[in-house]
Amino acid sequence: MALDPHQFMSKMSSRIGFSSEDRDLLKNNADWGLKVAPDMADCFYAYLGRDEEMNTILNATEGRIHRLRETFVEWFHEMFTGMDDWGDAYADRRWRIGLIHVRIGIGPQHVVPAMATVVHEVGQQLKAEGKSEELKEALGKICMIDLTFIEQAYIEVSAAAVLKETGWTEGLFKRLIATGANSM
Ligand code: HEM
Repeated sequence: MALDPHQFMSKMSSRIGFSSEDRDLLKNNADWGLKVAPDMADCFYAYLGRDEEMNTILNATEGRIHRLRETFVEWFHEMFTGMDDWGDAYADRRWRIGLIHVRIGIGPQHVVPAMATVVHEVGQQLKAEGKSEELKEALGKICMIDLTFIEQAYIEVSAAAVLKETGWTEGLFKRLIATGANSM
C-alpha cells in the first residue's frame, strides 16, 4: 500500500487538470507569491489559533509557532515556483509535509478547513490586487494537490500501521473496511 509520491503527483496533476498554462502563470507570479506569503501566514495562524484544539497543538512546544511561520512562507512560495517544475522534489516535499502532520495527529478535520482558509484568503488578496481569475484557478488547483498529499498520508500511514501490526493482507483489510462501512 506504500505510496509513491512521484506517481501520486503526476496522477493528481492530471486528475485536477493542473496544466502547463497553470504552471506558467504561477511561475510568472512567484515574486508576488513571496511578497504576500507573510500576510497569508498571519491569516493562517490567526485562523488556527482561534480553534481551541489546534491552538493547543500549535503551542505544544517551544518555538513551534515561530518555525511554522517560516515553513508556511516557504510552502506558499513553493506553490508558485514549483521547485523542480512540480516534479519529484516537489512531490517528496509535499509527502514529507503530509507525514509530519500525521505524526502530530492532525487529521482531515483540521487540514481541510485550514486549506479552505488559504484558498479564501489568497482569493481576497488576488482580487484586491486585480490579479486574474486564471491565476486564482491555478492556485486553487495546486492547493488541492497539496491537500491530497496531506490527506492521503493520513490514510496510507494508518493502513500501513494496521497491516504491520496485524499481519493482515491488504485485501482482507479492504474487505473489513467495506464491511465496517456497510454496518454503520
Ligand atoms: C493547509 C494546510 C496546512 C499546510 C499547507 C501546512 C504546512 C506545514 C508545513 C510546510 C510544515 C513544516 C513541515 C516541515 O517541517 O518540513 C508544517 C508543520 C506543522 N504544522 Fe502544518 N500545515 C497545514 C495545516 C496544519 C494544521 C491544520 C495544523 C493544526 C494545528 C498544523 C500544525 C502544524 C504543526 C504543529 C507542525 C510542526 C511544527 C514543528 O514543530 O516543527 N498544520 N505545516
